[in-house]
Amino acid sequence: MAAVDEALSVGELAARSGVAVSALHFYERQGLLRSSRNAGNQRRYGRDVLRRVAVIRVAQRAGVPLAEIRAALDTLPDARTPTREDWSRLSQRWRSALDARIAQLSALREQLDGCIGCGCLSLRQCPLRNPDDIAAARGPGAPYLER
Ligand code: FES
Repeated sequence: MAAVDEALSVGELAARSGVAVSALHFYERQGLLRSSRNAGNQRRYGRDVLRRVAVIRVAQRAGVPLAEIRAALDTLPDARTPTREDWSRLSQRWRSALDARIAQLSALREQLDGCIGCGCLSLRQCPLRNPDDIAAARGPGAPYLER
């Protein structure tokens, strides 16, 4: 943490990062940011938090859930702000996750194409209604009537 006279208030952090005060407080409640308190019991943030906020925002834009961002930041020694190398490694990992999500969404779009003009929403026929063919795995008959 930076010396208190170099530290930023939440308002200064918001102005410098372009992120609303409410969002910064939310990130802190979620364990993504840390602050210290000055003599007047006001939150103060080290200047390195600016880079940390940038990483959080970029990761969010890439669709990375906050819990995953926090888990990644927690892997850094001494809760440090990501260095260039850290960010390079994290962005590579998140790119792979983004590729997987894009592939999943593309498959869903193709399945949805099959529903256009159909309207059956059948457990047996509609791939979106029963994507893993759960009904077939439960065997023949009427397994949903047993409960
Ligand atoms: S609604 Fe008929 S296949 Fe999806």
